[in-house]
Amino acid sequence: MSKQFAVIGNPIEQSRSPELHHAFAAKTGIDLCYSKRLAALDGFSESVERFFAEGGIGMNVTVPFKEQAFSQCAVLTERAQIAKAVNTLWMENGVLHGDNTDGQGLVDAIHALDWNLENTDILIIGAGGATRGVIYPLVKAGAKKIVIANRTLARAEQLVSDLKEAVHEAELSAIALEQLEGQFDFVINATSASLTGDTLILPETLQFKHAYEMAYGKPSSFLEQAKARGVPTAEGYGMLVGQAIKSFSIWNGVKPNLKDFL
Ligand code: ATR
Repeated sequence: MSKQFAVIGNPIEQSRSPELHHAFAAKTGIDLCYSKRLAALDGFSESVERFFAEGGIGMNVTVPFKEQAFSQCAVLTERAQIAKAVNTLWMENGVLHGDNTDGQGLVDAIHALDWNLENTDILIIGAGGATRGVIYPLVKAGAKKIVIANRTLARAEQLVSDLKEAVHEAELSAIALEQLEGQFDFVINATSASLTGDTLILPETLQFKHAYEMAYGKPSSFLEQAKARGVPTAEGYGMLVGQAIKSFSIWNGVKPNLKDFL
């Protein structure tokens, strides 16, 4: 029988993970079956238990279960502990293990664009789960200063105070969205504004050399403004592929080349 994998979420129809994992499997010659699992909002842990009891090898976790997956794992990678969210599950010696590959997916996607993260100053707009997941991998990849700008300043301040110790190699600070200014190597949009069709305003006092939008396939006022300034831009499909490749390599011990799937 093929090795069994799945992505679990609610809703789940929109997930691109099965097609990505089947493409990686075809490229690497691994025989697997990767399905979508819709869990009831109160049925996550039961669904995970059943999947592994039936011989499942690995699971990806998506909205809204990443924090619950984090709480349920007996063993966590360092980056999952820091993110306080898990998107990749597997069993080892009968014990549930969890990792978070989202941030490394972003770093790998940025590297695939040949953008350099060494010694960089980064502005991240947004202070939700998406931001929390990427800070530590960005610092490990060489970011030396990260400013988190958020509509609700207190949330950005909380994030900084939670993560400061874990990323002490870098300088972390919080500002309100109205205070956007200064010069950065990268600006990353980690808000859900493009998903809800809201507009973000990037003032002229803010300057940057690269712009990365975490959403993909949606109109983005953030990317439009960045493009109008003539800076290199990218959207989050690469990050999606990057996190999937990382999960795939954890489970299968083989790492497909990101550039083959962009
Ligand atoms: P995720 O887990 O994807 O990060 P989230 O936790 O709901 O999602 O966080 C969404 C982020 O987008 C938050 O930083 C939110 O700002 P607030 O903390 O002030 O709510 C931000 N966001 C959503 N819509 C926005 C908008 N129209 N303008 C600016 N920021 C927005």
